[in-house]
Amino acid sequence: MSEYRAVFRCIAGCGEEYPLDEVVYECRKCGNLLEVSHDIGLLKRRSAREWRELFDSRTGTTEWPYGSGIWSKKEWVVPNIDNDNIVSMFEGNTNLFWAKRFGAMYGMDDLWIKMCGNSHTGSFKDLGMTVLVSVVNDMIRRGRNIKAVACASTGDTSAALAAFAAYAGIPSIVFLPANKISTAQLVQPMANNAIVLSLDTDFDGCMRVVREITKDNTIYLANSMNSLRIEGQKTISIEMTQQFNWEVPDVVIIPGGNLGNVSALGNGFKMMYDLGLITRKPRIVLAQAENANPLYLSYKNGFRDFTPITPQKTLASAIQIGDPVSVQKAIRTLKEFDGIVEQASEDELANAAALADRTGTYSCPHTGVALAVLMKLIDRQELSKKDRTIVISTAHGLKFSEFKVGYHEGTLKDVDCRYANRPIAMAPDVGKIKEALEREFAARK
Ligand SMILES: Cc1ncc(COP(=O)(O)O)c(C=O)c1O
Ligand SMILES: [Zn+2]
Repeated sequence: MSEYRAVFRCIAGCGEEYPLDEVVYECRKCGNLLEVSHDIGLLKRRSAREWRELFDSRTGTTEWPYGSGIWSKKEWVVPNIDNDNIVSMFEGNTNLFWAKRFGAMYGMDDLWIKMCGNSHTGSFKDLGMTVLVSVVNDMIRRGRNIKAVACASTGDTSAALAAFAAYAGIPSIVFLPANKISTAQLVQPMANNAIVLSLDTDFDGCMRVVREITKDNTIYLANSMNSLRIEGQKTISIEMTQQFNWEVPDVVIIPGGNLGNVSALGNGFKMMYDLGLITRKPRIVLAQAENANPLYLSYKNGFRDFTPITPQKTLASAIQIGDPVSVQKAIRTLKEFDGIVEQASEDELANAAALADRTGTYSCPHTGVALAVLMKLIDRQELSKKDRTIVISTAHGLKFSEFKVGYHEGTLKDVDCRYANRPIAMAPDVGKIKEALEREFAARK
């Protein structure tokens, strides 16, 4: 056992607490969500400088399990888990992409994209899933009767769950909305031998089903309403700050659907702030697709109330969610971080992704939402061009080939594909090819 202590605690402040190895997702007294709460007093026994040095000494090593971007911060995540029971593929440690040419188009020279898609299953979901599956593995090894882990998903959560469960040899069950995820996302859990249920409903419908199924405590719920996921995801803030030599960025922009990730981002910054590693907090911008924008609507009325919606189809399929489970956590985070919520239309998100791709990215549609929101807020001068700004790229573009192909073929609904680039089909005639190249050089000037 380490000297540190963390428990599940009710977010409503009713005082309920549970150990992290208890099968519990909501407060048994008042029904609110739980969060992992760390004993900050114990963590303060190390100075800010000592924490920075400890984290820096582990980053990029092969030392088990600290070479992982998540487990390099183990004491701040799940301090008391046995290292032998951790299920890790050394996730995290993703690069920050300096968006040099894209930023220059908007007069920004300090614009960065955090490439969370450069990860084992191609999305930021690996960050949280290593933590959740590790805790489950620890419980199983201690003799707990857990038959399987289960989640509802818009594609990325299920891919991550299936992979980490397969790595640990734990059965997994995934509930997916039929025909609402990409081919690559569907194949991922199939390949990892998950039990894949394709349901004739949307994500919110899958979420209702998995909540029922996991009332049986031998099937463990792996959605982000389980705050163990959030603990892993929060390391992203710590990692990004570390990548800038422990300097806080000014603004972070993140796409949101079920809204767990934005509170994770906030939690990471808050913990660094409380422990003295940073002395100010960044501004957080939450980006939603206009077709799935319940939090944007709530923001527009000053968060006075929140009404779930039935989302419309969006190219940003992973955030096509109308009844986000973690909405209360998200609102709390946005209030604390001078938050902005902005939306992007189908046309805006697709063209933003395509324009960024022309400067070297391969952006998924959710990253497109965040980039489009950045462009709007810079145009409206609600964000400053001078600020160090990080856009969180949540998934790899290669998972969304239908989106890319559709864009360049000009077949996407409600999108004027202004940057489409089609292959030139022609005979292998060198003279004609030279003429074609001249035309292209002229067109691209
Ligand atoms: C690629 C991608 N981006 C963004 C999100 C949104 O994250 P959250 O549901 O935590 O808001 C998800 C997951 O739902 C996702 O898969
Ligand atoms: Zn409670």
